[in-house]
Amino acid sequence: MENPFCKRQLNFFKPILFITDHSLLVIMSHLKNDILLRVLRGEKVERPPVWMMRQAGRYLPEYMVLREKYSFFERCQVPELACEITLQPIDIVGVDAAILFSDILVVPQAMGLEVELVESKGPILPAPIKTLSDFDRIRVPDVHETLQYVFDAIELTKKELNGRVPLIGFAGAPWTILCYMVQGKGSKTFDEAKAFCYSQPSMAHRLLQMITDTTIAYLKEQVKAGVDVIQVFDSWGGLLGPDDFENISLKYTRQIINALKDEVLTIIFAKGAWHSLESMSETGARGLGIDWCITPQMARELAGNKITLQGNFDPAKLLSPIPVIKKEVKKMLNDFGGQCHIANLGHGILPNTPVDHAKAFVETVKEWKKESVMRDQ
Ligand code: CP3
Repeated sequence: MENPFCKRQLNFFKPILFITDHSLLVIMSHLKNDILLRVLRGEKVERPPVWMMRQAGRYLPEYMVLREKYSFFERCQVPELACEITLQPIDIVGVDAAILFSDILVVPQAMGLEVELVESKGPILPAPIKTLSDFDRIRVPDVHETLQYVFDAIELTKKELNGRVPLIGFAGAPWTILCYMVQGKGSKTFDEAKAFCYSQPSMAHRLLQMITDTTIAYLKEQVKAGVDVIQVFDSWGGLLGPDDFENISLKYTRQIINALKDEVLTIIFAKGAWHSLESMSETGARGLGIDWCITPQMARELAGNKITLQGNFDPAKLLSPIPVIKKEVKKMLNDFGGQCHIANLGHGILPNTPVDHAKAFVETVKEWKKESVMRDQ
């Protein structure tokens, strides 16, 4: 069914019924700020909710203090540290949602591969998957044995959040995880991962299915531990053409969404895969992330009126002077039309972003009123 709120240029403040629904939902969800959940359910909202991908990270001096003291995986594996880092952007920048501090690469690690995070080089997997015999080193793990620390961090974080904002859990899409498991490191093209899929398709599909099964079990436990929303990150989806994206990536992400859609609200962020917005909108996901290489209007046409869109501010634009940021954020908000939109970046925040600029992004969304902006123009 079409969602009338997803159409652009809506009249604001309409039915009384909505107000009644809203107060009921606030009671139901025990959240003081549940605007993210309401927009994902397709309800009318007073303004778009706002959070930033990679909001817990190196642009925050408070994160850097903990980074000096503890290794990356210590920060992920000690629930008190993961919790503290998760809460930092809520307290400092004022976003409408927390995203658990962790990493998509904990999944290949739980499957049996060694993962290192090397300063200024990014992730390194010293013994990647290349041949059939490499499958002897990996398995679909018991997620309680391997990833219990994530569920503990979620429980602690939910307690510490005390209903202030919802908590987002996440995992990588199977294709993006395969990229790292096969290439063994970051890459602009992931050519070895693609060559593996094109020249050894049955092995590639076996690996993708193992990642999918692990991810489903992992995310189901994240939900049991208390996350309110799940985002699937397909950071490298845009490296595949439309047919390969369907066959190598979306086919597996679809299984994940299908397994979760009745339990939790889900968002797919497949960077660069604008060509498949329509197919992604039919998965049962309630939100789709988009990057800055597509206009909100084009994305809405492709995705249809049933789904919430998330994005799409160019993270590099947060390096502009604050007045420019404010002007550009207002333009983005107007282009999305105020409903069925989660204000976010089109990819992760850059480590050299001044904290004041991140705050300006968030504050501009919170203060935005469609009417007043249109008057100013
Ligand atoms: O969004 C958040 O604040 C939650 C935490 C989070 C991290 N990684 C922490 C992190 C999330 C959601 C991720 C997802 C992730 N990890 C993705 C998908 C999103 C995207 O940005 O495309 C990918 C591809 C990874 C893999 C990964 N982890 C890379 C490529 C790197 C190194 C590059 C970089 O940004 O530093 C990491 C390390 C990483 N994961 C850091 C953080 C805060 C930096 C660690 C540090 O140096 O302190």
